[in-house]
Amino acid sequence: MRVVVTGATGMLGRDVVSSATARGHDVTALSRADLDITDLAATTVALAQASGDVVINCAAWTDVDGAESQEAAAFAVNATGAGNVASAAALAGAAVVHVSTDYVFDGSKSTPYLESDATAPIGAYGRTKLAGELAVAAIGERHTIVRTAWLFGLGGSNFVETMLRLGGERDEVSVVGDQIGCPTWTLDLAEALISVAERGTSGVLHAAGSDPCSWFEFASEIFDRAEIDCDLKETTSKAFLRPAQRPAWSVLGSQREDGITLGSWRESLGQYLVQRQTTQTNTTNGAQR
Ligand SMILES: NC(=O)c1ccc[n+]([C@@H]2O[C@H](COP(=O)([O-])OP(=O)(O)OC[C@H]3O[C@@H](n4cnc5c(N)ncnc54)[C@H](OP(=O)(O)O)[C@@H]3O)[C@@H](O)[C@H]2O)c1
Repeated sequence: MRVVVTGATGMLGRDVVSSATARGHDVTALSRADLDITDLAATTVALAQASGDVVINCAAWTDVDGAESQEAAAFAVNATGAGNVASAAALAGAAVVHVSTDYVFDGSKSTPYLESDATAPIGAYGRTKLAGELAVAAIGERHTIVRTAWLFGLGGSNFVETMLRLGGERDEVSVVGDQIGCPTWTLDLAEALISVAERGTSGVLHAAGSDPCSWFEFASEIFDRAEIDCDLKETTSKAFLRPAQRPAWSVLGSQREDGITLGSWRESLGQYLVQRQTTQTNTTNGAQR
């Protein structure tokens, strides 16, 4: 299969490129420098030239707090850009796998959000991502929208990296315990996205790590596994105010028989810590040669 990846140097994008390549697909990796998806003409030309069977759109504005004050800029990428990818892919005869988020929900449920649940974003980022979903669904004839959550992976700014850094710098770290979600390793998600593309699954699909937890529990597991000696304190969203409000309940489930179940994030976290260690060691050895 010919696979085109947009946002190919992002945290998820790079794992999608490596997973698709490892599975023997012919991959065209388009970074932001190669293709700005807010430019419709450039997107149309790039996707026609790439001539893919499927385009996996990993390009996005992911600064959740920044989107509150720059919603138009976030909308340009997450909504207009997603629509551009969908229309250019349709012209090029390619299917689209578009990545979306748990932040399209308001977090008021207490059971897992299913694909059919009503969306109601509570922040600017979620609004722009929902507009992107609607644009892809309206334009792309063959499309899959994969909602995921709480990503961690190599090369990205993510919660695991933040905790490892803070745990090394401070004696005490406070983390919220009243937001529950599904940590998801980008490599697990990348494999799922390739499977979705291979099978030609369509419609909306939820894919996130199993075994929901709070950010506090997530941090606790990170410190345990990385053997970080730091006093971890549980706090609340009210005490830890940020520009964007986060959903209190971000647990994604699936009602689809052809859905994809990801394994427990705890096991994946262990694998990720080994992966980042190996990558750091290889980089250091390479630099010394
Ligand atoms: N991170 C999470 O916890 C999370 C949770 C749920 C869903 N998601 C979704 O998962 C997907 C991947 O996220 P991620 O965590 O991998 O984000 P990321 O690391 O920020 O990667 C996004 C990529 O998109 C690129 N990009 C930004 N604007 C672009 C534009 N106009 N044209 C082309 N590329 C552009 C970025 O390039 P630059 O780096 O050069 O700006 C970056 O390479 C996104 O759809 C996101 O909404 C993420």
